Amino acid sequence: MHVSSKFTVGCDASVLLKASTTNPSPENNPIFNLRGFELIDAAKAAVEAICPRVVSCADILAFAARDAIHLLTPGGCIYDVPSGRCDGTVSSFQEALVNLPPPTFNLTQLKRMFESKNLSFDELITLSGAHSIGQVHCSSFTSRLYPYNPTHLDSGFAHALQRECPKNAAVDCLVPQDHVTPDALDVQYYTNVLNNQVLFFSDYSLSTDPVAKATMQLYSTDFRNVRWRPKFIAAMQKLGQFKVLTGTQGQIRKTCAAVN
Ligand code: HEM
Repeated sequence: MHVSSKFTVGCDASVLLKASTTNPSPENNPIFNLRGFELIDAAKAAVEAICPRVVSCADILAFAARDAIHLLTPGGCIYDVPSGRCDGTVSSFQEALVNLPPPTFNLTQLKRMFESKNLSFDELITLSGAHSIGQVHCSSFTSRLYPYNPTHLDSGFAHALQRECPKNAAVDCLVPQDHVTPDALDVQYYTNVLNNQVLFFSDYSLSTDPVAKATMQLYSTDFRNVRWRPKFIAAMQKLGQFKVLTGTQGQIRKTCAAVN
């Protein structure tokens, strides 16, 4: 699941709350194309069966991100994630709309949004490397294909995407975020940006800044991952601490999809 779980209000699992009669319009709106909820539900059920009402859904999400990073990193990658987060009880679609960067954002807008979350420009570039894994719905970027702008998008890549995502593509049609090493969390994303072979305008816009470009050139040749990976992990740890609820500020949900 993507960064939205942390960006909207904080690391409180508000993104997992489903629509209910008391809250018909939570963060979890189809417009954001989020997926993988069933995995978090399965992890929560397994933990609850052994140790009821101790581990929050917010902690489970943070651990799942840590484990996904380990499993998708060639050679593995283990890092510490503190526990003790509580689950929030508020989840609002409107809040998510205002707080999540859309894929149409330009560099100025991205910078501003990250700064509002106390994340630097360097952290924006570093965290964007996560777009080297996962799958994307065609609908998240088809506006860039019909017509495509050859200054923003490599023409060979654009034609390949047009075949995978025709104008009338099914709403659930998915393509890999990184077409070169789709299942590896690596520095390939940065080569893709520099080659104009990325899906979103927001990804492309990083290459329009000379400082970002120089950083991405360094990252893209960092095959032993001594530059990018430590910075990525540090930024993920920082994200995992974003507006955490503790003690009586939240609750430990029984199931992740609903407040107690
Ligand atoms: C810089 C601003 C960002 C924008 C505009 C953005 C936008 C998006 C969009 C639109 C999707 C595709 C949703 C879909 O169609 O299914 C996506 C997917 C994804 N994003 Fe981001 N994102 C950003 C930053 C991040 C960050 C900081 C991370 C993690 C640290 C991240 C991790 C991911 C992952 C892993 C996916 C694939 C999800 C899946 O496989 O279902 N993104 N992003």
